[in-house]
Amino acid sequence: MKFKKIYYEEIDSTNKELERINAVEGTVIVAERQTSGKGQGGRSWISEEGGLYFSIMIKPKSNFHLIPLISGLSVFKSISDLIPNESKNINIKWPNDVFYNDMKVSGTLVESKFKGNKIDYCIVGVGINVNQDTFPILDDNKPISIKQISNRAFEKIQVLDLYLKYFSNLYLSLLDSKNIIEEVNKHLYKKNEIINISVQDKVLLGTLKGLNDDGALILLDKEDKEHIIYSGRILK
Ligand code: BTN
Repeated sequence: MKFKKIYYEEIDSTNKELERINAVEGTVIVAERQTSGKGQGGRSWISEEGGLYFSIMIKPKSNFHLIPLISGLSVFKSISDLIPNESKNINIKWPNDVFYNDMKVSGTLVESKFKGNKIDYCIVGVGINVNQDTFPILDDNKPISIKQISNRAFEKIQVLDLYLKYFSNLYLSLLDSKNIIEEVNKHLYKKNEIINISVQDKVLLGTLKGLNDDGALILLDKEDKEHIIYSGRILK
């Protein structure tokens, strides 16, 4: 995929801007800071200096349900390349967060627009904690930056280019869903552990067994009943 990057010092949200400009596929908006960054579930994403904030416009023809997974996997691969000694402690929290032990390094917000029952476009918005030394408020996710993990700063552009390289490759191989899901499965946060997951307005408790062939999460409850979860949020 060919990317065209547009830089801002400050913007409300790179996701919102991409939506406003009616961008072609491959347009990437990058900002040093966001004044109203959007997070998952209607939450906000604190976007102070030091983090990497960007959004990509894509128009997938098939398998668009795998877009969150390929974003998480691209962040996972990029960070593992940057701090290889720590890669064993880096995992993907389904579907697209990246964690260092129990701390969040990155999150993705995919926003999709449909025309009728067909996908028109997806905006893939990614926040990566790269060089922050401190974080202002602590919500239920403990944030950590790559700099705090490794004690050194990184060129954010280098991190972005690494991500785009991996994302582009995975996007081109979107039809090969088996490989993508297998790779995510290998690095899945809390695999075989007991988790709480909120699904719609319920919280389910069970063992995270892995992902099925659709990339959905398999949860085994204490009655040994299997739940297949297409959309939900792992709590603890
Ligand atoms: C999450 O809640 O984990 C998702 C966070 C996504 C944040 C990124 S930062 C760049 C892009 N623009 C936004 O407004 N949000 C996404």
